Parts: sequence; C-alpha cells; structure tokens
Amino acid sequence: MSRGSKAVTKTYDVVIIGAGPGGYNCAIRAGQLGLSVACVERRSTLGGTCLNVGCIPSKSLLHASELFHVAATELSGLGIDVGTPKLNLGHMMKAKDDAVSGLTKGVAFLLKKNKVDVFYGEGSFVDSETVRVLGADDTAQTLKARNIVVATGSEPATLPGVDVDEDRIVSSTGALEFPEVPETLVVIGAGVIGLELGSVWARLGAQVTVVEYSDGILPGADPEIAKAAQAIYEQQGLTFVTNAKVESAVVDGASVGVNVTMPDGNRQTLTADRAIVAIGRRPYTRGLSLENAGVNPDERGVLVGDGALRLAKTIWAIGDCTSGPMLAHKAEDEGVAVAEMIAGQTPLIEHDLIPSVVYTAPEVAWVGATEDALSDRDIRVGRFPFLANSRARASGESQGLVKLIADAKTDEVLGVHIVGTGAGELIGEACTLMAMSGSAEDLARICHAHPTRSEALRQSAMDAAGWAMQI
Ligand code: NAI
Repeated sequence: MSRGSKAVTKTYDVVIIGAGPGGYNCAIRAGQLGLSVACVERRSTLGGTCLNVGCIPSKSLLHASELFHVAATELSGLGIDVGTPKLNLGHMMKAKDDAVSGLTKGVAFLLKKNKVDVFYGEGSFVDSETVRVLGADDTAQTLKARNIVVATGSEPATLPGVDVDEDRIVSSTGALEFPEVPETLVVIGAGVIGLELGSVWARLGAQVTVVEYSDGILPGADPEIAKAAQAIYEQQGLTFVTNAKVESAVVDGASVGVNVTMPDGNRQTLTADRAIVAIGRRPYTRGLSLENAGVNPDERGVLVGDGALRLAKTIWAIGDCTSGPMLAHKAEDEGVAVAEMIAGQTPLIEHDLIPSVVYTAPEVAWVGATEDALSDRDIRVGRFPFLANSRARASGESQGLVKLIADAKTDEVLGVHIVGTGAGELIGEACTLMAMSGSAEDLARICHAHPTRSEALRQSAMDAAGWAMQI
C-alpha cells in the first residue's frame, strides 16, 4: 500500500514508461512536435540499461582496456617506450562512472529542454489511459494520458542451474564492476556481450574461456565473418569451446565451477575465479499490470504489436520489450516513429536495415542479409581484405575483411559484413547506400578519400563486379 496518493490533473498527450534510448528519444521527439509529454523512470537516473549498465560503461571499459593492451604490446614496436604499463583498476572504473554520470545528466537536460515532465518511480497501468507511478518514498501519483508508450526494455536471461549472485557469477551488470582482474574467467555465451566483456577482462590480464552452445560465435552474423572474427579473438588469447552446453555452475568460496557437457558428450567442470552469464536478454514487463489495460505479452514476454508498434488504441510498445533485435538504435528509431505517429505523421522504419556492431578490437559490423539467408537468390559476393588497404597497413591494423553481397541481376546491395578496425563506423556508409537502394556499382563509382579504410568497402563493391583493382 502506498503512503500517499495524488493525481496529476493534466491529461498528457503521451506518457512514456521507461527512459532508456527508446523512451527518452520518443519523449524528445514528441516534445519537439509540440505534444505534452511525461516520462516515468524507475531508476534514479535516466538513460536505461544502455547508459547506466550497458552500451556506454562497456564502451568506456573497452576503450580503456584496449589502450592498456596497446601500451603493453604495441607501443614499443612503434618506437614509443613507456615500459610496462601498470593497471589502476579503480581509476579505470571511475572514468567509466564519470562518463555514465555526465551522459545521464545530458539526457535530463534534453528532456527539460523539450518540456518533458519526468516522474521517478515504478510505472504501472491502472487502465488503458491511466498510469500510476509509485515513488521510492512510497508515494503514488496518477497520470492521465491519451497515449501510453511502453519502453521498459529488457533484463538478462537466466540459465537453470546457474544462480547469478553478481559477485562470482555475474550478469553483464556485475561484469562491469569486478573489484580486481580475475585470473581466470568463464564466459557463458559467445554473443555480443560475452565477446565484448570477455575482451575487456582478457586485455587486462584474465585467462578467458568462452563456452558457446551452438557451433560458432555471434549468432546472426554472417558465418564467414564470424569465423574470421573468432580466429582473431583466438590470436588475442581467448579460448572458445563451441557445441558445448553449460548445465550448472556452483560457487565454492572464491571460485566458481561451471559444469559443461563438452562437444564429445563428456562432462567437464571449468573452474574459474568468476563467470559471466551472457546468454541473451528477455523483455522486462514485470509489475506493469498490463492486464489492467487489456494487453498481454506473448509466451516469451514480448509485447507484440500490430506491426506498427501499436498494442491497442492508446498503447504502444518500443525497443527491447517488443519484437526485433534488442539494440539501442532500433529502440531510438521506434521511439521517434511512435512520437511521429501520435502526432499524425506517417514515418517509415526500415527494420531490415538495422546495423549490428560488436565493439571488440577489431570491431565486427553488419547490415542487411547474410549469404546464408540469400541461398535462394542469385547473388554476387565481393570481398576485400584490410591487409590490402594502405591505411590499415600503415596503422598496423590490417586484420579482417569486408564482404559485400549484391543481387546478381539488379546489382542492388543486399548485405555488407565487416570485421576490422572501425567496422562500426564504416557500416554507416553501407546503411546509407542500402537505404537508398544503392547498387554495388554506385558504391564502386563514388570517390572515397585515400588513404582511408572506407576504400576497402569501395573495393569490395568493385570485387562484386569482378574488377577490384587493389588485390
Ligand atoms: P546473444 O543473443 O547475442 O548471445 C547469446 C549466446 O549465448 C548465443 O550465442 C547462444 O547460443 C549462447 N547460449 C545460450 N544458452 C547457452 C548455454 N546454456 N551455454 C552456452 N551458450 C549458450 O546475447 P547477449 O550477448 O547476452 O546479448 C543480449 C542482447 O543485448 C543481444 O540482443 C545483443 O544484441 C544486445 N547487446 C548489444 C550490444 C551491441 O550492440 N554492441 C552490446 C551488448 C548487448
């Protein structure tokens, strides 16, 4: 029972539950369009998982750990003698926390600038036009709305037999906060989180073993690119056990035993200082009292709309809690689209052109279809290795390749897949080209600055037509 309760008399055009990349971008766009907006957030800071315990803190640690690794392994080869670098993990963590805190304040500023009222507390449905916000001080407020947008995000999926204590056995959240570098670390799941956080701790000195259920890493990536990436990670010292099923994990004092059925069917216990569980995420819709609004998630907890992100006349869902990839930029685009639809516009979201990026070193990035997915189409595939790209060679970052897939008849680019330094930035050009239904010929004929890595993308387009010149 709440201590006090008060109704906010105004009826908002939009009440958004959740202030992650989906929710806060929806709020900003709705505010820009002149709608009255409230945003409800249960955390004490804005920005959701991405900003508080996801994309942003992990990128801070990826950046810092990469510099540490480069200082230890590469600088002397470039004639820069800095001796053996010494890790100050506390400072590294503080730099990460400072980046997060600055950015959460930035989101608060943007919401204020766009006249969005922020209510801190747990939001839940009273009915299809009313949201109750229960604050940390047990005070409830009631908000009336013409539209309610559910943007509550996701939470780490759990594995039966593996209890996450956020100490020895951690989710992605605990893996951003280890008090010291583990000597040994088992990562369960070779997806994006496992590879990014496994890389962070490997660069800082941990012996990392990644256990993966399927026969390769990075589900969803083009298998050729995933294989190339795996070979690079292995050179960096990561050990992969694929086709292996984690059955359970047991904490014993300062270590954890991860029980795995190995590819040959034998059981083995991998003992490590800590283990990270990174086997996917599931929508977070608990406590919303969706039934009061006549809305039901599917059996996986996903809020499935009508294809246009609408769950009911007054209710919308965006981001990780609805169908599609669980990515911040997908949530952002859906947030913008829903705000525009509420304002009477007809925005278009190209769900087939959402890029994926793995922020390891080198990065892996892709957009559009994989070669496998196009097995029934007549296609041409162009490839270009960074080994033949002058900028990559000059910087000593020549691992990886660009793979471009085009329709054999129309030459339209259907997919671009990259493993290599800067792949996450390079993929933007592929997104733009594909959004304009561009062809490989278009890309091959557009002038690219020399020497840049983007020339590798251009050369892959030339290769699709059989005239790559620099290989
Ligand atoms: P994921 O779905 O990317 O990968 C999970 C992996 O765990 C899969 O390869 C799966 O086969 C494996 N797995 C499942 N059960 C297993 C078991 N019992 N034993 C061994 N392996 C098992 O999930 P992840 O990495 O947890 O990421 C969750 C979500 O967060 C994803 O949707 C991802 O796109 C998103 N994310 C995106 C980031 C980015 O864009 N850079 C960064 C971090 C997360």
